[in-house]
Amino acid sequence: MPVTPESILILGGTKEAAELAGRLTELGVSRVVTSLAGRTAAPEMPAGETRIGGFGGAQGLADFLRSEAFELLVDATHPFADTISHNAVEAAVISGIPLMTLRRPAWTAVDGDHWFPVASVDEACTAIPPSARVFLALGRQHIDGFAQRTDVHFIARMVDPPERPLPFRSCDLVIGKPSADPGTEAELLRTYGVTHIVCRNSGGQGAYAKLIAARDLGLPVIMIERPDTPDDRSYPTVDALLADIT
Ligand SMILES: NC(=O)c1ccc[n+]([C@@H]2O[C@H](COP(=O)([O-])OP(=O)(O)OC[C@H]3O[C@@H](n4cnc5c(N)ncnc54)[C@H](OP(=O)(O)O)[C@@H]3O)[C@@H](O)[C@H]2O)c1
Repeated sequence: MPVTPESILILGGTKEAAELAGRLTELGVSRVVTSLAGRTAAPEMPAGETRIGGFGGAQGLADFLRSEAFELLVDATHPFADTISHNAVEAAVISGIPLMTLRRPAWTAVDGDHWFPVASVDEACTAIPPSARVFLALGRQHIDGFAQRTDVHFIARMVDPPERPLPFRSCDLVIGKPSADPGTEAELLRTYGVTHIVCRNSGGQGAYAKLIAARDLGLPVIMIERPDTPDDRSYPTVDALLADIT
């Protein structure tokens, strides 16, 4: 049976990271520290200790790992948070402290899906056909580049009202979280006359219902694929990762 580390640093900011911190704490690991970037004003605090803010690059993270005598680093950040994931790999090499990665699997298209994979937000913008009505399922920080498409009507969904007006020539703003019910998502897409969806391949269940709705309605999806993040010792679920360290 593997030896359970007694001191673990989790790079967090995801539901899975919080679940892992809870499970490790329940298992009696002496020190579980979750690191958050500090982007959210009032983040939910995971079990165990929390620290907030960047480390100052890979070297800073390596110094932190060594000075606090961590025995294991777990990268449980979002699949699109690629800078911190590359830093984690480098910091593990510099510090000699082992790294495990928890990364939810990407979605894959099934029969009935009409997905058009693109590598970036810029490519997604170019891939939109003229005069489309596009449902933008992207965070506020990723939408500005689409403003150049003055021929397109955008429907942007956001959890909180934006601090400044949206940059589009023509748009609707929908305030609210994604629904877990494909029927509700389909109703929204129909109501706004959506012809295309643009989203990122985040994986997981939370945002999948809109893709089922798109399938049911025969709508094309411009899918921004994940950045190229290191996949060594990568685990798809909390259970799989725990099985290797407990
Ligand atoms: N990207 C998304 O769409 C998304 C979605 C949901 C949640 N999140 C969470 O939000 C955080 C930031 O995402 P991002 O895309 O801005 O990251 P990123 O571009 O990969 O990272 C940018 C910088 O932010 C700092 N940082 C990122 N994650 C950190 C963490 N967990 N603890 C301490 N510092 C961290 C690092 O600063 P230093 O170089 O100074 O160490 C990193 O170099 C991540 O923790 C991620 O899990 C991101």
